[in-house]
Amino acid sequence: MVTLTEIITTKKAYTDSENDLLYLGIFQDKKLNPRQRSLDALLENKLSKAMELEDFTGKKDKQLMLYGDDSIKRIVLVGLGQQKKYTSDRARSTAANITNHANSLNVSEFSVDGDSFNLGKSSSAQAFAEGLLLGSYEFNDYKSNQEDNVKAESMTMFGNVDKKSLDKGLVLGTSVGFARDLGNHPANILTPTYIAREAEKIAENSPKMNYQVFDGKEFKKMGMGAFHGVAQGAKEPAKMIIIEYNGGRKTQKPIALVGKGLTFDSGGISIKPSPKMDEMKFDMCGSATVMGVLQAVSHLKPRINIIFAIGSTENMPGGNAQRPGDIVTAYNGKTIEVLNTDAEGRLVLADVLSYVNKKYEPAAILDFATLTGAVLIALGNRASGVMGNDVSLMKEVKKASELSFEKVWELPLWEEYTSEIKGKYADIKNIGEPRLAGTITAGAFLKEFVGDTPWVHFDIAGTAWGPKEPSYQPKVGATGVAVRLVYQLLENRI
Ligand code: BES
Ligand code: MN
Ligand code: ZN
Repeated sequence: MVTLTEIITTKKAYTDSENDLLYLGIFQDKKLNPRQRSLDALLENKLSKAMELEDFTGKKDKQLMLYGDDSIKRIVLVGLGQQKKYTSDRARSTAANITNHANSLNVSEFSVDGDSFNLGKSSSAQAFAEGLLLGSYEFNDYKSNQEDNVKAESMTMFGNVDKKSLDKGLVLGTSVGFARDLGNHPANILTPTYIAREAEKIAENSPKMNYQVFDGKEFKKMGMGAFHGVAQGAKEPAKMIIIEYNGGRKTQKPIALVGKGLTFDSGGISIKPSPKMDEMKFDMCGSATVMGVLQAVSHLKPRINIIFAIGSTENMPGGNAQRPGDIVTAYNGKTIEVLNTDAEGRLVLADVLSYVNKKYEPAAILDFATLTGAVLIALGNRASGVMGNDVSLMKEVKKASELSFEKVWELPLWEEYTSEIKGKYADIKNIGEPRLAGTITAGAFLKEFVGDTPWVHFDIAGTAWGPKEPSYQPKVGATGVAVRLVYQLLENRI
C-alpha cells in the first residue's frame, strides 16, 4: 500500500502554519529562492551557515536536517545536484527519498517547498507526485503488530505547483501501488477469481466500462484449447477477464492491453526446481500491469477506446495436468505441440491474443508477460525486453519509455526465428532450441496469434520484481512495471 493519501497545495508562507518537518530543495549552486531566503533570515542564517561549512553541498541525494523553532521544527535540505541534470526522473527519485525519510521519522505529516523542486512544471509535478507515493509504498498486509508504526499520510506543498499534473501523478502512483499489491499477495490468496473480482469492482464503478469474465470450464468449447491445456491441471478455477473501456469515439478502433496472469507457475509436469519457486507467485505481474492501467484509466478517463484482457490460471502438476507431447488447438486454429509444460504463459496468451484480435479488431495490441527467464540473462533487472511486428508502434513504445523512464530494449523478431518453433507433429511447438534466444523464440510464438495487427510484446520477467533502483522502486517485491509507460503511451495517442 502507499501510505501517503493526502496532498494539500497552498500559496501561503511556511510560517503561516505549524510544520513538524519541511523539505527544501537546493541545487549544487546553493542559491536560495525568495522563500528560502526569508526562512534563513528567520532562523538566524542557519541554512547559509550549513552551506558555508560545506555540511550541505547540494549534491544529488545528499540531505541535511536542521532544527528550527516551534513553528518549523525540522528543516531538511535536499541536494538536487546540477540544475541542468534535474530531469523529471530526478524529481521522481528525490520525492521518493523524501517520503522514505519522513517515514523513518515516525511523523504523520510533512511539507515541501514546491518552488524549489520545480513543481510549476507539468512533467516534474507529475513525476514528483508519483515518487512521493511510490517512495511511501510498503507491503505489510500480512504483518501483525503494525499499530505503533506511524507513517506519513498527509503532506503540504508550498508555492507554485501544477495541481493538475500533481493530481495525475497521484493517480498513477496509486495505480502502480495497486499493481504492486496484486503482485505481492501470495498465490493462496490471490487467485484468478481474486483478480476477476478486483477487475469487476473497478469496472462496476465506471460507467464507460463493460466487464466480462469467462470461466475455465468454457475454454474448450470456445475453442481455446491452448489456455484450456494449462488450466486443466489446476484445481483453482481459471478465468479470462475482458473489460471494454469506451472513452473515445464509437467508430474508433480500440487499443488492446493483454496480460499474463499465472497466479502460480510450478512448471506443471515439467516441474521447476525448488529454489526460488516461491517467486512464481509473481507470474501474474503482466496482468497486474493491465490492472494498474485499468485503475488509472477509471480515474483519469482518457478519450480513447481500450480493451483490457487477462488470462489467469495456475500451472500445476497432477493427474489432470497436460503432458509434454500433448497437442492442442488454439483459438485461431493453429495446432501446438506442448513440448514443455513450463512454457505455459505463451499458451495462455495464444488464446487470449487471438480471441481479442478476432473479436475486437484492435488498432494495436500490447501484451505484458513474465514470459522467459532468458530475458533476465539478456537484460538483467534494468529493462524490459520488447519485440513486435510494427515499426511505428514500436516507436510509440520507445517514446513512452523515454518519457516515463521505464526502460525497454528491443530484441529482433526476424522471420528466421519463426522457423525455430516449427512443430514436428503440429503447426508449431511451444519451445525453441534449448538455451538459444529463449526470449525471442517466445516472442516468435506469440506473433503467430496476432495476425497483421500492430503488436508489441513486453517480456517483464526481469523488471516485474527485483529492481531496487532508482529509489522509487520498492525494497522488496513487485514493482508495478510499465503502468506509467502504458499510460504515457495512451496519452500520446489522444
Ligand atoms: N514464468 C516463467 C518465466 C520466468 C522464469 C519468469 C524465471 C521469471 C523468472 C515461464 O513460464 C517459464 O517457465 N519459462 C520457461 C520457458 C522455457 C521452458 C522454454 C523459462 O524461461 O525457463
Ligand atoms: Mn513456466
Ligand atoms: Zn510462467
